[in-house]
Amino acid sequence: MMKKITLFLLLTLGLQQIMTAQTAILIPVETKRTILLYSVGKDQKLYQSYLGTKLQQATEYSDMGTKNFESYLSAGTSNLFEPAIRVRHADNNPSLELQYVSYQQKKINDSITLTTIKLKDPQYPFEVVLNFKASFNEDVIEQWTEIRHTEKKAVTLYNFASSMLHFDASAYWLTQFHGNWAEEMRMQESKLTSGIKIIDSKLGTRADMYQTPVFFLSLNKPSDETSGELIAGTLAWSGNFQLAFELDELNSLRVITGMNPYASEYTLQPDKVFTTPSFIFTYSNKGKGEASRNLHSWARKNGLIDGDKPRLTLLNNWETTFFNFDETKLNGLFDDAVKLGVDLFLLDDGWFGNKYPRANDNAGLGDWQETKTKLPNGIEALIKSAEQKGVKFGIWIEPEMVNPKSELYEKHPEWVLRFPNRSEKYFRNQLVLDLTNPQVQDFVYGIIDNLMTAHPSLAYFKWDCNSMIGNAYSPYLKDNQSQLYIDYDLGLYKVMARVREKYPHLPMMLCSGGGGRVDYGAMKYFTEFWPSDNTDALERVYIQWGYSYFYPSEAICCHITSWGSQSLKFRTDVAMSGKMGYDIQVNKMTPEELKFSQDAIENYKRLNTVIWQGDLFRLISPYDENRSVLMYVNKEKSKAVLFSYTLNLRYGDTFKNVLLQGLDPLKHYRVREINIATKPAFKETDKDYSGDYLMKIGLSISSTQSLSSVVLEITEKLEQDTW
Ligand code: GLA
Repeated sequence: MMKKITLFLLLTLGLQQIMTAQTAILIPVETKRTILLYSVGKDQKLYQSYLGTKLQQATEYSDMGTKNFESYLSAGTSNLFEPAIRVRHADNNPSLELQYVSYQQKKINDSITLTTIKLKDPQYPFEVVLNFKASFNEDVIEQWTEIRHTEKKAVTLYNFASSMLHFDASAYWLTQFHGNWAEEMRMQESKLTSGIKIIDSKLGTRADMYQTPVFFLSLNKPSDETSGELIAGTLAWSGNFQLAFELDELNSLRVITGMNPYASEYTLQPDKVFTTPSFIFTYSNKGKGEASRNLHSWARKNGLIDGDKPRLTLLNNWETTFFNFDETKLNGLFDDAVKLGVDLFLLDDGWFGNKYPRANDNAGLGDWQETKTKLPNGIEALIKSAEQKGVKFGIWIEPEMVNPKSELYEKHPEWVLRFPNRSEKYFRNQLVLDLTNPQVQDFVYGIIDNLMTAHPSLAYFKWDCNSMIGNAYSPYLKDNQSQLYIDYDLGLYKVMARVREKYPHLPMMLCSGGGGRVDYGAMKYFTEFWPSDNTDALERVYIQWGYSYFYPSEAICCHITSWGSQSLKFRTDVAMSGKMGYDIQVNKMTPEELKFSQDAIENYKRLNTVIWQGDLFRLISPYDENRSVLMYVNKEKSKAVLFSYTLNLRYGDTFKNVLLQGLDPLKHYRVREINIATKPAFKETDKDYSGDYLMKIGLSISSTQSLSSVVLEITEKLEQDTW
């Protein structure tokens, strides 16, 4: 009888609000294909019952039984592994137990459901709320934790994970990304062995640089682009982060993500809420390609500013002028931008400072007024001139920083992170402002707000961050120094949120000496990011490939420059697979090069919706062969763009056909080479094929000349088309 009632409930309510009679409450966090299932044990603890593809029969979830996977392990009693949470209560007791209290589910919109599960210590008025935002259509789950208490005095938090996920596979393969300045996003894969593997950052202002807060975890065997079971995960936090992978004596794995507990004990006052950043993940049993596409679709809706809107093409002046420019030179560059056909000119570093002009990187940061000697008519004259010529105008700032040689430093030494009793340590001759201080937050916000108020038609900002926290002492925090790393980031987000409240659609590029700060914590305030100062096109093939696993192409700024020695065509074709821009001396181009670039920009403008909004299929990895091939396909499968890059060939290298993906096998397509420099590189240009043929037999696309490239435009051929 009881079984019948349970079945009836399951069928009528689906998986929402199921309570099985025998054992436990089941709490499902569901997306289209995935379910993360929690259950409450007889001991009133919350357990993770399952994470994976949904079962066909929802009724069978209640038969699963409960593994000993306590959802959010605490420290101090029976758990002797790495905890998700560790605290010291107001009475100095260092133990915590968490029992289930209740859960709620709320639809936020058509696609997103928020599940909150409340846990509480039976001995203390101390509670933890686990939050899950499931984006149904995109198959992505965002998970974060809130911690609060009503004890008599403050509680100290030592560990405060965003998420703890349990896995029970035969083996685990971790794909991680590491780097350095100009070497971002280098991919490594390894089999996890017993014990703890930690990937983290202690850089303060930056999540990325040496390690990156993104990973793939493949279950049972390594996965490739089209097969394998895995999760792709990333932490939305721009400061110190920690990803811990603990493989125990039973070959079970716990993945614990969150802000880095390193030097970060946090004092939580009664009735205050400590909220962790989000861990964002997707599960796929069809390989890395699907996982990336899930994250891209999620990011376009939830992870970026205006992710579904067009981006501006631009000409930047950093690599062509560095600090050496004046009004006349800039006017010439506006003409170049117009000649190229881009939408905007972006003025980089070096436009500000008067007592200490920013003539190089050791002075001026903090003094955000135009240098009178360099720009006698100010920014407004530059904007007007650019606009008259036909391009918009954008500007570089580095608002969190100060050079000791600046008026700001002289006026407000108390706004700077530095030890009262040690000499200052510099990174790029600069120091970090104390963003834990609300006055400093106002100052940093004011940099953008003042510029926008004085120059309302400023159309773009590049927000840079060129230093880590090397002098980890906040004059503002006084006795609470261990909160510096966390409060810095929270202060930063407060400023970014204020900027977005007033200027919700202003295009902004996030930069940090290249890709030192790329994460979804900050990206929700930005339209795009600068992936690396390294713009050598060969290096960029790998760097952009790495970012493409977790970020959509519209967010990845790719500029054509003179850094690499490859042909202009190769450099252009590499940049065109992301958000294309220029940082090149246009007046040094030959007439043929200028014409080629103008045509490429025309092509890009025609195809950019497919590149920015289409589904990405990575066909051949530069880590596997001496070439790299990827393509984008629009949702209707009527238009695709394919990029093929031949890298440095070895003697005897030959290439097999490239099998396309993502097309409709029943449709017919015209394949046409574009961005042709001198003569076509693809012999089969302007021919028609079925989608079936292109995906099963494929095409011989890659050229056999080192550092050469082919771009193909693939268009559905309708019956009436005569071309
Ligand atoms: C950083 C950025 C560069 C450029 C310089 C300016 O290095 O990554 O793109 O803006 O700062 O100083």
